[in-house]
Amino acid sequence: MNALVAIRAAATAPAADAAGTPVQAVALSGIEVRFGALSVIQAMSLSVREGEFVALLGPSGCGKSTLLKVIAGLVPVASGTVSVGPATRRLGMMFQKPLLLPWRTILSNTLLPVELQRGRGGVGAADRQRALELLALIGLRDFADAYPHQLSGGMQQRAALARTLMSDPDLLLLDEPFGALDELTRERLNEELVSLWRSGVTRLKTVIMVTHSVPEAVTMSDRVVVLAPRPARVVDSLDIALGYPRDATDIALVNLIAETRALVRGVM
Ligand SMILES: Nc1ncnc2c1ncn2[C@@H]1O[C@H](COP(=O)(O)OP(=O)(O)OP(=O)(O)O)[C@@H](O)[C@H]1O
Ligand SMILES: [Mg+2]
Repeated sequence: MNALVAIRAAATAPAADAAGTPVQAVALSGIEVRFGALSVIQAMSLSVREGEFVALLGPSGCGKSTLLKVIAGLVPVASGTVSVGPATRRLGMMFQKPLLLPWRTILSNTLLPVELQRGRGGVGAADRQRALELLALIGLRDFADAYPHQLSGGMQQRAALARTLMSDPDLLLLDEPFGALDELTRERLNEELVSLWRSGVTRLKTVIMVTHSVPEAVTMSDRVVVLAPRPARVVDSLDIALGYPRDATDIALVNLIAETRALVRGVM
């Protein structure tokens, strides 16, 4: 097992300030997002505590990707307020498509965040080592020198995750990160991601992940937020009060998955 995820014991308890008030990593208050005449998000309020892992579920086209882009500051709101931080210094975003640069190798794509931050001359041996470790973690170590077109869709997604983690984010936004993967690889990477988040060996604290999989949402997160069809707004928020690591056969987990599935079915 890679050193990056070797420490699995430390739980990531949500952070609190001196007065015990949870620190908000993201706070959206009454936001509306429009694309021309199309209202995509309406009257949405959502707070995510620092240290929380929140999964977003909602029907296709409801505005989930747009919501992540709003949090990342890439899409403006027509009204309402968006605040990120104050402790968030680095925001990492993995888009729904891999968006790898076709003329760069997988290693060189993974190193891109460091290069953008420090310039080409600023990439050192330690950065290359870390990039190779991340590629090993996601099962792409043997493809470090390959080009994106030589990889399958799922492999490209994994490379995009390695690149996102390379920026060492404290807030991680994931848009259906493993949609194109086979079930077993997906389960393994989900476990690695949760381990990484909980381990405390990186600066990663808060994760907001869009997924279409109810079991994935419930198994991975502290809280599942269910969104209404467009225009998106929060219809429900379920706390998943189970410890980690989670056992797929645990009856409490199985029941929560069934409960969440029924809820989502009622919305779609
Ligand atoms: N840049 C854009 N310009 C115009 N319309 C857009 C733009 N981006 C998204 N939309 C519209 O906003 C709505 C929500 O899109 P979004 O990509 O956020 O949905 P989603 O919930 O992520 O869907 P999926 O689950 O299929 O990925 C859609 O109707 C889409 O057509
Ligand atoms: Mg989307």
